[in-house]
Amino acid sequence: MYLEERKLEELSFFRKLSIYGQKMGIEVLVFTPDDIHASKSRIQALYYNTAARKWQRKWTYFPELIYDRCRYHGMENYRKISRFRSQYNRRLKYLSNPLANKWSMHQILSENEEIASHLPATVRYNGSKELIQFLKKYQRIYLKPRSGTGGRGIIRLQMTHGSGFLMQGRDQNRHIIRPQRVYEMQISAKLSTWKLNDRYIVQQGIPLSLKDGRVHDFRMLVQKNGKGEWEITGCAGRVGPRNSVTSNLHGGGTAVPMDTLLLLRFENQAKVEEIKEEAYKLGMNVAEFIEKKFGQQVEIGIDLAIDPKGKVWLLEVNPKPSREVFHKIGETETYRKAITRPLEYASWLMKRKKSKKE
Ligand SMILES: Nc1ncnc2c1ncn2[C@@H]1O[C@H](COP(=O)(O)OP(=O)(O)O)[C@@H](O)[C@H]1O
Ligand SMILES: [Mg+2]
Repeated sequence: MYLEERKLEELSFFRKLSIYGQKMGIEVLVFTPDDIHASKSRIQALYYNTAARKWQRKWTYFPELIYDRCRYHGMENYRKISRFRSQYNRRLKYLSNPLANKWSMHQILSENEEIASHLPATVRYNGSKELIQFLKKYQRIYLKPRSGTGGRGIIRLQMTHGSGFLMQGRDQNRHIIRPQRVYEMQISAKLSTWKLNDRYIVQQGIPLSLKDGRVHDFRMLVQKNGKGEWEITGCAGRVGPRNSVTSNLHGGGTAVPMDTLLLLRFENQAKVEEIKEEAYKLGMNVAEFIEKKFGQQVEIGIDLAIDPKGKVWLLEVNPKPSREVFHKIGETETYRKAITRPLEYASWLMKRKKSKKE
């Protein structure tokens, strides 16, 4: 989708896709629903001219495969993309099928016993009375909009040593809401300003504070390779800024290598290896199960939490993950794979299609 002034959010990623694609014999075109000429079913696509080092446009037909990187940001864009899908989806082929919102996703993942043991307890928001019970049971809870992204609209409530609870979070514009003490009697009134409804989920909070008080978690990228098989491309740590209850990079989080963070926390290489093994196994299970439930996927980004005992928890599954985290921690080879694998998988799909026709 275009941002203001016809800017595109991920243009530098698309440029890298184009350059790698060219080496592999894949032509990469970039287009948005605004670039379609409906009557002719043609698009005015962007392509990267590597010799001239710039983006140019040309009229073309829809490509054979679509890598959907569309992020809606608002109602108008959502309508646009829905219209595009209902109009063209029958003739288009995608690398990935859409996934579900956080609540549906939780329910579906719970069906798998192996994965369910890694899911924090989660319920739909159903009034402050139930919420307080849930909070007393788990001591720390996260309230999240079921369709939120990037750490927007997230509140954390936790018990304190003294009386009352500590409430903090991020509003819809991702601004930090500083910690404030609230008493049980006040919770209902406080939450009413948030207009919570059943579009919010309430989740057991995993304790993720580091020694300096900042929270952390991990982002794992699981992708299909050039043989159509799932592989873990990489996993990196993220540390939230001060006073933040989320660690998303777009919310000011810092990327850190996974081993650095785990060693800092557990001070024991054997333990670190054990945790990584559990996390990798979970990542593969989730990718395989999601594909079984939602149909073909090219990649998923998984948010993982590792609690003070070393247990691995699954916080979120992202259908359109970014991969900048690997660039930020200097894992050049992981970063390269993160970009080339979707191209390799696309290439594999095309070859398979051809051989089926023959
Ligand atoms: N149950 C939880 N326990 C601890 N931290 C959490 C929990 N849920 C979310 N977080 C923190 O908030 C961030 C954003 O939550 P997430 O569910 O990934 O939503 P979003 O779609 O906004 O990224 C996570 O990356 C993590 O830092
Ligand atoms: Mg997330």
